[in-house]
Amino acid sequence: MDEKEIRQQIETLREQLHYHNYLYHTLDAPVISDYDYDQLYKRLKELESAHPELITADSPTQRSGGQPLDKFRKVEHPSPIQSLANGFGRQDTLDWYERILRLDPAVARADYVLEPKLDGLTVVLTYENGSFVLGATRGDGLVGEDVTENLRTIPTLPLRIPVMGGGHAPARLVVRGEAIMFKDDFERLNAQLEQRGEKTYLNPRNTAAGSLRQLDPAVTAKRPLKIFLYQILESSEETPNTQSEILDYLMKLGFPVNPLRWHANNIEEAVQICEAQALSRHTWAYDADGIVIKINDQALSRRLGFSGKDPRGALAFKYPGQEVETTLLDIQVNVGRTGVLTPLAVLKPVSIGGVIVRQATLHNFDFIRDKDIRIGDQVLLKRAGEVIPYILGPLPEKRDGTEKTFEIPRECPSCGSPIQKVPEEVAYYCVNSSCPAQLVRNLENFASRGALDISGLGSQIVAQLVESGLVNSAADLYTLKRDALMKLDKFGEKKAENLLQAVESSKQQPLERLIIGLGIHGVGEVAARKLARQFLNLDALSRASLDELTSLEGIGPGIAASITGWFAQPHNQELLQKLRANGVWPQEHETKENAQSGALAGKTFVITGTLPTLSREQAERLILEHGGTISSSVSKKTDYLLLGENPGSKYAKALELGIPILDEDSLRQMLT
Ligand code: IVH
Repeated sequence: MDEKEIRQQIETLREQLHYHNYLYHTLDAPVISDYDYDQLYKRLKELESAHPELITADSPTQRSGGQPLDKFRKVEHPSPIQSLANGFGRQDTLDWYERILRLDPAVARADYVLEPKLDGLTVVLTYENGSFVLGATRGDGLVGEDVTENLRTIPTLPLRIPVMGGGHAPARLVVRGEAIMFKDDFERLNAQLEQRGEKTYLNPRNTAAGSLRQLDPAVTAKRPLKIFLYQILESSEETPNTQSEILDYLMKLGFPVNPLRWHANNIEEAVQICEAQALSRHTWAYDADGIVIKINDQALSRRLGFSGKDPRGALAFKYPGQEVETTLLDIQVNVGRTGVLTPLAVLKPVSIGGVIVRQATLHNFDFIRDKDIRIGDQVLLKRAGEVIPYILGPLPEKRDGTEKTFEIPRECPSCGSPIQKVPEEVAYYCVNSSCPAQLVRNLENFASRGALDISGLGSQIVAQLVESGLVNSAADLYTLKRDALMKLDKFGEKKAENLLQAVESSKQQPLERLIIGLGIHGVGEVAARKLARQFLNLDALSRASLDELTSLEGIGPGIAASITGWFAQPHNQELLQKLRANGVWPQEHETKENAQSGALAGKTFVITGTLPTLSREQAERLILEHGGTISSSVSKKTDYLLLGENPGSKYAKALELGIPILDEDSLRQMLT
């Protein structure tokens, strides 16, 4: 082969590889096998190593990244990288529309393109004569960082445009887009990092940013980054007149463009689309915190100009945030009912999805250590649905050196006894059974609505009773005297009377409520009901053997051991004796009427998923009230599976066993 032929062959191979890469990664529609692709690649590699002078930066062989850097070079953008004004909901969006309508009556006839507002990192890509020559981060909008080598490793980023057959590329083209990581790629990567004992990332955005800002491109190459382009910043040729055409044009050149977009004929339609996507956005492969509404007509959009730094021709319709940043002011340690110590984040108050959050859970002490969370850190806070907000992790890049590492307390913050760690568990315990903090939690549980339901005995009063020494166990509630209560702060005659009255009526609560009130680890409403029906009084229950207990459906060896363990403790026996002496000794009658005559008598139900209107507790109660029983796992003995949204593995199990499946509606129908 002469040199010309070699050049030509190299060129043909590159064209083919670019094209097949595009079909595979961008269109997800390969036409050759991986093996054939590898053969072409190998052939090109061979030719290039024989003729290194012919290697160019836009060759498919150059994706794996260049040499590690000391730091990123600064690059000035050809024009400022604009940001976007935010609109929160319908009214904000209509206000924006009214404002721009006043500036230009043509707005009345405008149509719109809507695109997911990708939660990633803005990047600016420059192509000269069709070759990718520069890739930069946004930086401050004027000057960014040169991350060309890192961007080159993203498989969907074209190193050369047009990709085979896609029109023709302008001599110079600068485009803007977003580097992102898909949610499932993020989960997989984090799982790998965790397995290797490396630091994990907080969310896909954080990961995309971290991956792109690696000084060693070889590391970036291993990160599953994606990119979508949506704007032309500069072109040596005329560009299309509308945003929809721009997106099509970018696609035609071979750029990855988000396949998800909408067209709206007017602002009302645009708002409706945004509202309709509020929930479905969670099913998208990537995180998006809103939808960008763009005036389709580029000339009109340009004419509208800027308001500060924000172009008037587009608006980000934002959904209530799920994640926010705030300062971790302190870490408090709470003592739970069973003595477990749990760390609680005290936060600089922030609004998240319209709710002010001041505290969040930190899970356990291992979590604080693994994530290296320090007091004073900026932290990322998440609130998903109705769940208690939790800390995702710290933002170490925001540290100023004043942050303090947190020490696990050696003594219980409430009673000062030494803390113990159970070897196989993450939890640390205060093992002092008369620890006042534990007592407070126990009494709160005892008085709670699902247990003895003593109204007027909330957390504050419980704490007051314990602090004053009037109450040392639940049994003491029943010997409280009016005069003693009235000596307490903020206790008048009426309040004292009401409390005593509520305590007195609680003696009438059925046995299952008292069992819940005892606070035996693992014994909730369902188990308590089972135990009450089976044993009929606390004497019998306290004598129950492990075998007797585990023979009951829904009571596994763990719960059984926890029950016998509880009754084996002398101080618990003492509590029972006192309760009995004070007249708190409910008896269960043989069978409740409903167990035989209710509409669901004799039927066993398993519940999975979130029901449309009933909470889990309400559904259980409804079934129990009609004589049905609840089991926690699906077996051949299950009569029905009550199915809600996002069911767990129980659903698959029920299908497998052919168990009839009900939704909330059909359950209700069974009751009428
Ligand atoms: S358009 C005038 N389109 O959101 C054009 N931006 O909050 C301005 N973003 O800095 C940008 N997805 O990084 C546009 N489909 C999309 C976007 C998008 C994400 C980012 C962009 C911008 C930020 C503004």
